[in-house]
Amino acid sequence: MPVDLSGPLMAAFKKAKREFEEAVKKGNNEVAKKKALECARILRQLANYDEFSRESYLRKAKKWEAIARDVEAGRYGIKRNKPIKEGGNQRRSGNFEENGEDDVFKQYVEGLIARSNVKWNDIGGLEEVKRLMMETIVISALQKPQSVQPWKGILLFGPPGTGKTLLASAAAGSLNATFFSVKASNVLSKYFGESAKIISALYEVAREKAPSIVFMDEIDALTTKRSGDQSEASRRMLSTLLTELDGFQDKGNDVLVLTLAATNTPWDLDEAVLSRFPRRIYVPLPDQKATKEIIKINTRGLDTSRLDLDAIAEESVRRRYSGRDIKNLCQEAIWNMIREENRDLHKLAELPFHELKKRSLRTRPLEMRDFEEAFKKIKSPLTRKEVERYEKWAEEFGG
Ligand SMILES: Nc1ncnc2c1ncn2[C@@H]1O[C@H](COP(=O)(O)OP(=O)(O)OP(=O)(O)O)[C@@H](O)[C@H]1O
Ligand SMILES: [Mg+2]
Repeated sequence: MPVDLSGPLMAAFKKAKREFEEAVKKGNNEVAKKKALECARILRQLANYDEFSRESYLRKAKKWEAIARDVEAGRYGIKRNKPIKEGGNQRRSGNFEENGEDDVFKQYVEGLIARSNVKWNDIGGLEEVKRLMMETIVISALQKPQSVQPWKGILLFGPPGTGKTLLASAAAGSLNATFFSVKASNVLSKYFGESAKIISALYEVAREKAPSIVFMDEIDALTTKRSGDQSEASRRMLSTLLTELDGFQDKGNDVLVLTLAATNTPWDLDEAVLSRFPRRIYVPLPDQKATKEIIKINTRGLDTSRLDLDAIAEESVRRRYSGRDIKNLCQEAIWNMIREENRDLHKLAELPFHELKKRSLRTRPLEMRDFEEAFKKIKSPLTRKEVERYEKWAEEFGG
């Protein structure tokens, strides 16, 4: 797998840009030119890492090369009577730099846009949760009296693998909304001191591209209870997020920007976060009925008539399986069936690809023994105590 160097490159870009500005201030054209070229070189490297923003990085690299030429010719930084070139919208010097930085953040944010094809009926169980989310979305979108304030943020909490990300994707898929998928820890590790600016850019772009759903995963990574005062960066990022959550109602009443936040450790959230998410939805482990639905979703296209779905579901619930565990269970069982029916599978590895394309896998109806074997492989990491902790928190703070 290629190593993603965009974080360090971005840091290097910022450093070079700062040094460029200092050199300009000191009137040291030699260094300024060198640093401008360095900025251009780094932007060209960044273009290789980010297919989505490639063109824009390359455009910016060219601008930095133009700046280097201006510096060399002694034209750079002449603020008055700047010639406005090529249709009048090409900004130079100071202006470009400010815009340049904002653009870099916006580009990162645009890279967070994900396509979602998930539909509500890809999700088993969770009827109440789905209904609440659909209602929230519909209310947000409908014309309404001013006093009817839709939820701007919904917090989804529950054990790992219970469908929180899936729900957010379905919400975006059903609305055909622009879906921004953000992991707090990723933004922090990539941008650290600048992560607050990412959040501002995120909501700016989300408003521009509304209707939008901002999915903020692992929101617990931002709260002070968890990070203590170790991280000034995460504190600033959080405070910008909270300001955005408070503010965007005023900035545009009619644009739909819904923030869905998710966490596995709701007890780590502090009051400041909780107060912005008055709608807190518990996404629990699936019960027997939901488990059956998840099994059906994950065995679509195969013959399940010989399975005792109730027995499988009962065993899954007893083992405290999450939706993710059930999906893995089904895949394991399907794999058992495929391997049994296609014992010579590994031998086909010698065939060229076009020969392989002509053949198809042999299948047979799924049998209970496929699942019995599969159960041995799938361990649920949750203890009863942990489940109880979620339930207690849901009772006390959920709603
Ligand atoms: N209710 C469900 N219906 C159908 N599939 C499910 C359900 N819950 C989980 N899954 C399956 O498990 C996978 C993982 O679920 P998802 O990523 O939504 O969990 P999560 O709650 O976001 O977990 P985490 O807290 O670890 O991020 C899904 O891609 C899906 O295949
Ligand atoms: Mg998730």
